[in-house]
Amino acid sequence: MTLRTDCCGELSAADVGRTVSVCGWVASRREHSEQLAFVDLRDHTGVVQCVVDHAHDLRSEYVLRITGTVNQRPAGMENPAISTGEIELKDCDVEVLNTAQPPPFPVTDRIEADENIRLKYRYVDLRRERMQRNLRLRSRINNAIRRSFEDQGFVEVETPLLTVSTPEGSRDFVVPSRLRHGSFYALPQSPQLFKQLLMVAGVDRYFQIVRLARDEDLRADRQLDFTQLDAEMAFVDQEDVLSAVTEAVASATEAVTGERPSEFPRISWEDAAERYGSDKPDVRFGMELVELTELFAGTEAKAFQAPCIKGILAAGEGDISRNRVDALTDMCKQWGAKGLAWFRVRANELEGQLTKFLSEDEQIKLRQAMGANPGDLILVIADERPLVRTILGRLRVELGRPPVYEGGLHYLWVTDFPLFEGVDDAGRPMPAHHPFTMPHPDDIEKMESDPLSVRSQAYDLVLNGWELGSGSVRIHRADIQQKIFGLLGIDAERAQERFGFLLDAFRYGAPPHAGFAFGIDRLAAILAGEDNIREVIAFPKTQSGADPLTGAPAPLDQKQLDELGLRVLPPKS
Ligand code: AMO
Repeated sequence: MTLRTDCCGELSAADVGRTVSVCGWVASRREHSEQLAFVDLRDHTGVVQCVVDHAHDLRSEYVLRITGTVNQRPAGMENPAISTGEIELKDCDVEVLNTAQPPPFPVTDRIEADENIRLKYRYVDLRRERMQRNLRLRSRINNAIRRSFEDQGFVEVETPLLTVSTPEGSRDFVVPSRLRHGSFYALPQSPQLFKQLLMVAGVDRYFQIVRLARDEDLRADRQLDFTQLDAEMAFVDQEDVLSAVTEAVASATEAVTGERPSEFPRISWEDAAERYGSDKPDVRFGMELVELTELFAGTEAKAFQAPCIKGILAAGEGDISRNRVDALTDMCKQWGAKGLAWFRVRANELEGQLTKFLSEDEQIKLRQAMGANPGDLILVIADERPLVRTILGRLRVELGRPPVYEGGLHYLWVTDFPLFEGVDDAGRPMPAHHPFTMPHPDDIEKMESDPLSVRSQAYDLVLNGWELGSGSVRIHRADIQQKIFGLLGIDAERAQERFGFLLDAFRYGAPPHAGFAFGIDRLAAILAGEDNIREVIAFPKTQSGADPLTGAPAPLDQKQLDELGLRVLPPKS
């Protein structure tokens, strides 16, 4: 039999007159007189006020069961800020189910404790309303995703936790083998190779909500271990994948917000780079990059004699201080720019350090091209095209990006990614996604002559400027795969050593296939209005990759090291 008849936060005026039992933690207590005190009891649904005889032996976070009668609060004593604000429990019988030490920080959303302390006492931190809301929101997302993929005929298959290195390009977490000293498993960075094997195996449509590990630097949108929705489909093209993922993400969003997002617009990688200077454009705000190269084709201004010139308009920022301009200029230089040209737009003139080098005509045309009005600020970068795009893209975000919880939800598919991104030290192209990504059919001809201009059948899903997920149509034909490996400088022997089992499997009848994976932590964070994914993860790591709660990572004792055949070097001084 459960100890309660009701949950604290669910009682309302409709329950007046009922005798109820509620269980939870003491959120607060106020002594009114010797004989009269108020206890706010909290559970996962909220708090309810209980009028008790005396509260002097009750402390914060004690675990209680309170049985009492639901009463309308006296007029003027209501609290509209909480769901139970119209009622209180009276004639209470209090049972102390457990005592508690004073909490390390107050359990309230109003006070933000230090991150380390929050994580060390995560079980207390999670009692807070915001954290309870986030955990439950995440659970709804998982359920909706699972239901959606099941409804679309996908099969959930679990892939190994102990495996070998996968080609996602990050550092592996490795696990030493006790039975084969000197050999190591890798924790999966993604189920990439296994899901492709499942396609060879005839599974047809696979999905998995899967925990993964990547040893990379932590950021607001990155943890060492994280969760992906991973999927793969056989006998399909890019459109089928985009539509299956759109369906699942729309369902997950609806499960949280109650509203189904109707639009998942698309943009090509090239357009995204030109217009937003980013492969994950935040389209909640405008401030698009404006092309100015032609306009300054014959300019006398040395700073604008460059292969590419673009600008952005910061509306209403015309009164920007010199200090702020200098700080922005330093930022751009750190990102690789030679400088930042800025113009405060006045009624009859442009004001800025470069104005005197521009002809009257150039100034008028610049103003027009930018659509500038008095009081605005124009920022211009002149350099190689890729650099101009990235720097203005970052500047745009720096100046324009709204907080995470503002501006609605803007999903965006970015398609036609380049197959390669830049070249390595040896001058060989590097894969932009992973080496199994199918080139765009129209560009296969250019693979050897001009590899950096080859587009791929790879696509990302972006939400409010965060990369939510990535995927691609895979190479299922040995001849194209070999060509790619050749370009990447992976010779037959090395290819066999790294991905031999996949290449072997492909000889036994690989169907055309394609897939996708998105970060559930990232989706949950944005839907929860949080700007760091650790707020939607029950037990995350700190910035430095530690878990203050468990003490991970921790040294092993000598016996374990011996069993594993490991010797640990003294720490680097
Ligand atoms: P990718 O490496 O782009 O693609 O990862 C897909 C998505 O997983 C999430 N993600 C992370 N989330 C939190 N912390 C991390 N450290 C982290 N790393 C990745 C992101 C990201 O967009 N196998 C391919 C997919 C495919 O081709 O099907 C893959 O893993 O949201």
